[in-house]
Amino acid sequence: MRNLFDYLSSHHDRFVRELCEYVRFPSVSAQPSHAKDLAACARWLTDHCSSIGLNSELCPTAGNPVVLASTRKGRIGKKPHFLVYGHYDVQPAEPFELWKSKPFEPRLEDGNLFARGASDNKGQNFAHLKAVEAYLKTGTELPCDITFLLEGEEEVGSKSLAEFLTKRKKSLQCEAVVVSDTGIPSKKAPALTYALRGIAAFELIVHGPNRDLHSGIFGGSVNNPALVLCEMLARLRDSKGRIRIPGFYDDVVPLTSFERKELARLPLKERDYRRFLGVPELFGEKGYTSMEQRTSRPTLEINGLTSGYQGEGSKTIIPAWARAKVTCRLVPNQNPERIIKAVRACLKNLCPQSARLEIIPGHGAEPYSTSPQGAYAQAALKAVGGGFGHAPLLMREGGSIPIVTDFRKILGVDTLLVGLGLPDDNAHSPNEKFDLECFRNGMRMGALLWQELRGAYNLKSGIDPRGDLKKP
Ligand code: BES
Ligand code: MN
Repeated sequence: MRNLFDYLSSHHDRFVRELCEYVRFPSVSAQPSHAKDLAACARWLTDHCSSIGLNSELCPTAGNPVVLASTRKGRIGKKPHFLVYGHYDVQPAEPFELWKSKPFEPRLEDGNLFARGASDNKGQNFAHLKAVEAYLKTGTELPCDITFLLEGEEEVGSKSLAEFLTKRKKSLQCEAVVVSDTGIPSKKAPALTYALRGIAAFELIVHGPNRDLHSGIFGGSVNNPALVLCEMLARLRDSKGRIRIPGFYDDVVPLTSFERKELARLPLKERDYRRFLGVPELFGEKGYTSMEQRTSRPTLEINGLTSGYQGEGSKTIIPAWARAKVTCRLVPNQNPERIIKAVRACLKNLCPQSARLEIIPGHGAEPYSTSPQGAYAQAALKAVGGGFGHAPLLMREGGSIPIVTDFRKILGVDTLLVGLGLPDDNAHSPNEKFDLECFRNGMRMGALLWQELRGAYNLKSGIDPRGDLKKP
């Protein structure tokens, strides 16, 4: 372990420079104009994986390419095999004017690297690559076979990846998937995440008159689609934070008292939280703490709202249409298709005769949860504690990683969520950053992980740990 940690610290500056190269690619998957940047980023990543000694392959898909990079040389080996999943695509950087420095020109300040994608997810998957590089470059035998699977469509729902998993099922067969794409409460409170929310996205369009109308000439005699949309949306939630869509809560599995106790241990003070968010008062479903609300309860959010004239000054019109982008976050055992169905029925009912409603379903992902008591989860927990030098917590998270349920369905394995992000990393916001100490701790965690997971594998399969692994 010493030589690995020594390697990681003595090459730290280079790793940061390389990560800066990685975040320079504007790999925004939501915007088709960036398709070339995603392809270039994937090529860079493939070359980088080859340069550290991995067997790398750039795999085209119907969408953005997948990068596969493995410690395996050809045939399936004797060591237990694990996948490391991550994504090289990033969220749009808009609004640009709120960034202190350009989103794709990395800036180092106070031990942080500022850039879109620094934390979500380039910095986090890069930490794992560097941990494996340490093994390969110091000639330390890896206790496990490892394959990196880095995709370019996570932020838009991982549309091409399930098919890819099915096609490559044989070579991707593994013990478990390791993912660093979640957060931890603080550097002193690292965590293993055992549940994620799912998501159901849709767009709502209210059609009114066949063109924008003069609001003086026609106003009062025809319904205003923007008002119709607002009225409908406002009816979807009550003043206590409950979603009013019939059937919405039918499949929700309530939190257990063990879970509520664990979540209560997390260091989140409601007052600090309110100040951090800059809101006059917190708001959420009554009867639950903020931590419970944002990790373990389902929600409905408006992500975007457009209608009418958006330019300078005024323009007196009744807009022809109004649209909203909406997502629901889902918890076990809700299902995105069932939720969209319930949403559809509810909205159809709410829409007045004077307007026409169109609902366009978007991406969906099922919620995920696994037992934190499993042998691999416990091994991962040890690596997290070792990497950060602090006792790790168990937690649930509110974000979604669409592909994790497919890992279970297609490959039959669980995912170990060992995040490196901090609450103030500004993921999806202007001025995203990655704390370089999380980067350092993450690399150490990555290095420890393969030993811990190998130990758990040996125990599981009854192998004498000393007899099996040759000392390098
Ligand atoms: N890294 C996040 C997911 C995440 C963040 C999980 C924090 C837990 C805690 C991921 O890249 C992400 O943002 N996913 C999207 C998925 C969606 C676009 C389908 C999300 O959650 O909004
Ligand atoms: Mn994200």
